[in-house]
Amino acid sequence: MKDHQNRQIKVANSSRKWFTKPAVYVSVLILFYVLGYLSASCFNSQHPTSAVTAALTESPNHLSNTTDIAASGTGPSSAEHGHNLFGSRCAGPVSSKLVRQTILDRLFNGTSPYENFPPAQAFGLLKTKRIKGWGSNGAVFEKLIRKVKPRTIIEVGTFLGASATHMAGLTSRLGLKTQILCIDDFRGWPGFLDGRFRDIAMLNGDVFLLYQFMQNVVYLNLTESILPVPFSTGAALEKLCEWGVFGDLVEVDAGHDFHSAWSDINRAYKVLRPGGVIFGHDYFTSADNKGVRRAVNLFARVNGLRVKVDGQHWVIDSD
Ligand SMILES: C[S@@+](CC[C@H](N)C(=O)[O-])C[C@H]1O[C@@H](n2cnc3c(N)ncnc32)[C@H](O)[C@@H]1O
Repeated sequence: MKDHQNRQIKVANSSRKWFTKPAVYVSVLILFYVLGYLSASCFNSQHPTSAVTAALTESPNHLSNTTDIAASGTGPSSAEHGHNLFGSRCAGPVSSKLVRQTILDRLFNGTSPYENFPPAQAFGLLKTKRIKGWGSNGAVFEKLIRKVKPRTIIEVGTFLGASATHMAGLTSRLGLKTQILCIDDFRGWPGFLDGRFRDIAMLNGDVFLLYQFMQNVVYLNLTESILPVPFSTGAALEKLCEWGVFGDLVEVDAGHDFHSAWSDINRAYKVLRPGGVIFGHDYFTSADNKGVRRAVNLFARVNGLRVKVDGQHWVIDSD
């Protein structure tokens, strides 16, 4: 018993001796520090920064159709900023026979906007016919209409209707029953009344561009084939997508700065029927440091599509 007690005292004394040695003391401290560090990094493996990075670098497969294509070419930083995400999938397509009625129901309470046209406040303020466009009769229109034989054309940017009425004339000559939807806010652009359009009437700050466009359509007897969609391009294209209204041929000719062209082309492509053709004017315009061309080329690159040039127009086939 005594022996046992003596042995315990000896062991205690010798370990006390060890811990009083400075080198051993420092080593034990380092050991505890390292163990503590390792366990902390194990528990903290979902560090907030790495979790966010993981979300941003996730495969875009879970995103919508349009987003997939746009995001895949440009990497995580684009996903982070969202500047090439253009909303969800469109609704299933409505039959082309129902496109006109869909627009009448959705936008004009089921009645034709040409009914009882012109309204009293426009009497005497409209020209019988006042049409002016830019490259609006180019050969590209006939080539594409002959090739696609469109039942629905969506025009993004119409102004006084030069290109829309030209396309309506072509489709009727080719015996096609084509509905042309003309998206335009019919405001022109700031200052456009200063120059050669000063003859377009204005009443209390409201320029009569929509009415003059409609008057042109009425005059040319094209009211059955042309409908205005008098809203901003972004809002209108999103709604067409939501309602399942697609075009076989989509023409983009609204804002000519990069950002306008970029969003118009992306949104317009969503409402292009598979197999259809999207095209637009002013591929070579110098506006906004060749904004249209930069937008078209970037769009083609991120979607793996090819840009063809026809005069001043760019053309992209969807397949
Ligand atoms: C160059 S003109 C269209 C010309 C027409 N395609 C032609 O060849 O006869 C551009 C039109 O786009 C419209 N526009 C520009 N930006 C728009 C926007 N964000 N929303 C709606 N319309 C817009 C303007 O009101 C203008 O009438």
